[in-house]
Amino acid sequence: MYLSSPPSQNAQDRESAPKIRASKGNRKLVMVTAYDVAMARLVDEAGVDIVLVGDSLGMVFQGGQNTLGVTVDDVCYHGRAVARGLARAHLVGDMPFMSYQVSPEQAVASAGRLIKEGAFEAVKVEGGEPFAEHVRRIVLSGIPVMGHVGLMPQSVHALGGFRVQGKTEAQAEAILRDAKAIEEAGAYSIVLEAIPTALAQKVTNAVSIPTIGIGAGASCDGQVLVLNDLLGLGRGHVPSFAKAYAKVGDTIVEAVDAYAREVRSGVFPPARSPKLVK
Ligand code: KIV
Repeated sequence: MYLSSPPSQNAQDRESAPKIRASKGNRKLVMVTAYDVAMARLVDEAGVDIVLVGDSLGMVFQGGQNTLGVTVDDVCYHGRAVARGLARAHLVGDMPFMSYQVSPEQAVASAGRLIKEGAFEAVKVEGGEPFAEHVRRIVLSGIPVMGHVGLMPQSVHALGGFRVQGKTEAQAEAILRDAKAIEEAGAYSIVLEAIPTALAQKVTNAVSIPTIGIGAGASCDGQVLVLNDLLGLGRGHVPSFAKAYAKVGDTIVEAVDAYAREVRSGVFPPARSPKLVK
C-alpha cells in the first residue's frame, strides 16, 4: 500500500480494466461520463462501474457544437478533478481529436500524458481498423484501451453530422471488421455508438470483450450515457436514444430563483444569523 493512496481506495473493491474485460456474460456494465469532482463523488456513490471523461466535455461542459476543439490538457484537467471523487469506479479518459490520429507514436505519447497528467486508468480511442496499430502500440505501453466504433463524433464533418452508422450492409460489415480489429489489437472493451440494434448484437456476439452501447440497443454488454442527458441537466438538444432519469436542470433553476427572490426581498440572509450570535 502506498502512503499516498486515499483511505477509501481499497484496491480489491475497485473496478479495473481486467475486471471489466472479465465481466462479459456475467453482468451488465454501467458507465457514465463525469467532468468534475462533485459529480464524480455522486456517480461513484451510486455504484457505476466506469466513469468516462469524454470529449463530450467540449459540448456539454464547454458549450461547443462538437468535440473537435477538446485538447489533451482539457481532458487531463477534468481527469484530475474526477479522479479525486472516485473510490470504486474505473476511470477512462477520451483521446481527443488529433491527439492520436497522426501516428502510433503520437498515440502512445498522448495516452501517456492522459495516464501521467490526468490520473486516468485507461484511454478511449475512436477508430476502427485503420487505428488498430495505434491501439496495439498504446496497449504494448501498458495502457489499457477502450475502443469506440460506429458513430465516431470526431468524424462529424466527414459524416455530415451525428448520424446513425451501419445501416447499409457494407457499412455494417465495416463496423464488424472495425470492432474485431480493435479487439485483436488488445482493447479490453469497446463502445458501440449509434448503430442498429441487430448490428450491435452481431458485434457483441463476435467479440470476446464487453461492448458498451450508446444508441445501440439492449443487447450490448453494458450501456453508457452522457451524465448531463441522464440527469436532465442541459437545456439543449438531447439525443433520442438518451433517457433523462431526473430533471436536475429544472431543480437548479427553481433553487437559484428561490435564492434570488429571497435576496431581492431581504429574506436572505436573516438580519441576525443565529450561528454567529454568542
Ligand atoms: O465523449 C463521450 O462522452 C463519449 C461517450 C458518449 C461514449 O464518447
